[in-house]
This record gives sequence, C-alpha cells and structure tokens, in this order.
Amino acid sequence: MKVLLLFGLVAFALADSTRFEGEKVFRLKPVLDEHVTLIRDLAKSIEVDFWKPETAELVTIDIDVDIRVPALYLDMVYTLLQQSDIEHEVLIEDLQAAVDGQSDSGPTPRAHSYTNYNSWDKVHSWINSIATSNSLISKQVIGSTYEGRPMTVLKLGKKSDSTKPAIFLDCGIHAREWISPAFCQWFVKEALSTYGSDSQMTSLLNEMDVFVLPVFNIDGYDFTHKSNRMWRKTRSRKSGSSCIGADPNRNFNAGWCSMGASNNPCSDTFCGYSPESEIEVKNVADFIRRNKSVIKAYLTIHSYSQLLLFPYSYTYELAADHSELMKVAVGASNALRSLYGTQYTSGPGATTIYPAAGGSDDWAYDLGVKYSYTFELRDTGRYGFLLPASQIKPTCEETMLAVKYIAAYVQKNL
Ligand code: ARG
Ligand code: ZN
Repeated sequence: MKVLLLFGLVAFALADSTRFEGEKVFRLKPVLDEHVTLIRDLAKSIEVDFWKPETAELVTIDIDVDIRVPALYLDMVYTLLQQSDIEHEVLIEDLQAAVDGQSDSGPTPRAHSYTNYNSWDKVHSWINSIATSNSLISKQVIGSTYEGRPMTVLKLGKKSDSTKPAIFLDCGIHAREWISPAFCQWFVKEALSTYGSDSQMTSLLNEMDVFVLPVFNIDGYDFTHKSNRMWRKTRSRKSGSSCIGADPNRNFNAGWCSMGASNNPCSDTFCGYSPESEIEVKNVADFIRRNKSVIKAYLTIHSYSQLLLFPYSYTYELAADHSELMKVAVGASNALRSLYGTQYTSGPGATTIYPAAGGSDDWAYDLGVKYSYTFELRDTGRYGFLLPASQIKPTCEETMLAVKYIAAYVQKNL
C-alpha cells in the first residue's frame, strides 16, 4: 500500500512537470534587417522561448539572440537558418540532459548547501535558522507572495541605537535565474563569517545595515524546482486570462509598460494589469518606500550576460548621476574581474541591452536611491540559466568583490 502510494506520488510528480527532451538552445547572430524579420516571424509561427533578449520584439541586428526551440520544430528551424544564412550555433544540445544535471532530486535528499541550488523549502528553513544564529542578523516579514509564502528580509549589521544608513539587496526576481538566490545566500554567509576579520566587511556592518531579500519571486522559484525549470514570471492568476503570472521586473512604477514589455498576459514580459499589481512587487516597493530615508543603494541580482546595469532602462535619456554611476560600475567590474578574469560590461540598461520599462532599478532610482544597480551574473550563454552548480562558488566569490566595491563607495560618500 505504502509502495503503491509512493509510486503514485512519483508518477504524479513526473506527469506534472514540463520536460525538455530533445530541445535545443540556439544562438543566432542576425546581421541584416531580414534576419531580424525572420526571427520575429518565427516567433509568431512557433512557440520559441527567448532567453536573450526576453522577447522577439527586442531582437535587433548585431546582438546575440539565444532561443530555446522545442524538439518538434527543430527541423523547421534548421531549414530556416540554412536558407536565410543566419549565423548560428547550438548552445545546448539537449536541454533535458542539462536540466537533469542540475536537479536536486537524487535518491538521498541533499541538505542546504551554499554550493548547490537549494529548493525554496531549504532556503526557507535556512532563512529561519540563520536569522537567529548571530546578533548581527535579524529578520522581518514584509508580506506574503500570491500563493501565501512569507517574504522575509534579513537585516545584517551591528546593532545600534540610532538608525543606520542601509543597502537593499534582492535576488530571484526572475524564477529561472537560479544563480541569483544562490548569491544572496552566499552574501549573508560571507558577511557573517568575515565580520571581525575582513576590515571592509567589519566597517560596512558597523556603519551600515544591509537588507537582503534572498528570493523575491518565491512562487516562481518553487515552480521552477517542481514543475517547469524555465519559468520566469510570478504565479498570479486573474479571471479573463488562462495565462499565469507577470514579469516582476516590468511591474514597477517606472515608465510602466511603455516599452520593452508586453500587455499580453501570456507573454514572458507581461507588465501586469497595473503597476505593482504583483503582490511581491508591492511588498518590496512598500518596504523600500517605508525605509526610503535610510536606503542609500539598491542592488538587484539577475542572470545571465555578465553585465552591470544602471538607470535608465525605460528611456534612452541619461540619468542625472550617469557619470558617477558609470565610474562606480567600472570600478566594481574591475574588482570582479581581478579574481578569475570574468569580464563584465557596464552601462545604462536601455543602451547596454535594450529598453525595458517597469524595472526595479529605475523605480528605486527615481524614488531617490542614487546607487541603483542591476547585476546580470554568469555566464554569457554557454549554459545560460542552467549554470552548473560547480560555478556557484567562483561566481559568488567574484560577485562579492563587486558588491563590496559598491558598498565601500556608498559608505565613503554617505
Ligand atoms: N534582463 C533584465 C530584465 O529584462 C534586465 C533589467 C535591466 N533593468 C531594467 N529596468 N530593465 O529584467
Ligand atoms: Zn532577470
């Protein structure tokens, strides 16, 4: 009976999850307007998942276009690529094999680990235990997700009677970018374990607080572990559409849905039904508004592409603080590169990748948080969202250097 039940559960779990057998990820290099048109037409006729850029509309000449193609359409896509002479390569031969290589569902369930991708359940219990492990850390629930999971902000910093200036750091806005929550966990561990020995971390936590939201889009993140590894958006539902979720990084009130975002609830860059319609976005925006006077920097972690972006993305206009933001970004990228040679590109979102309104960085900046940065971590497309767990440690180590560089700059310029 027990065995039968277990079998049933396993069968259900398998039946319930999206599989990617035989799917490939291609990199296309359009160099003519015809190429761009062809790629856009392709996206209209078959179901293509855009990894980079996020939608067909954002495709332009002379950029790398990474797309995931279902097995069913491979022949058709090959023929098209050959006929049109679009330069291309295969980034991932067999997506399901790559997904399996990352999954946590071995015979022996793994414990929480800083060098593996942890499920939400593991991150959740880690949050609760680390928050009570040390007097430098405390936690605060800022609200619940659409599906009712608690959003918890960890506050790191030496206790003080007066309110200290702070940095806000979030990870996991997009569900499939697994390296991002891994970085927030790493950051918390490093901060606690190097306080007292690393002079920069000690001084930072003495003078400032760091608010860390380890997973912003928890429902989506959980869904990528249990059902569909390639999910990006939230998991909210609304009558009138059978499509689920909105893109949290298109749902902030910054030029909302004016460009680089979609009104279509089925799109991966759906901007939502109104600014802050996504409860996760509202919870974070409310928290930052409440703490506006103390928050001096806003850092948000995504993947992939190796970029350090700053406002604006909703307009081509340069931010009032453009040159200072650029200078700090270049310094942070140099610090990052010093460890393993990983190269980052810095610049405003709109010109460095593409215009895309409704992002958290632009919103925080316009609210008055001057040092507002979006990181796009490793890699540049070899594995994309499926960055192997063996790269978590080096990625987090190098990213720490960039984050600490920005934090030190902010601290010096309070
Ligand atoms: N890849 C990220 C996204 O599309 C980049 C975010 C840059 N900032 C922005 N406000 N669009 O969400
Ligand atoms: Zn992202």
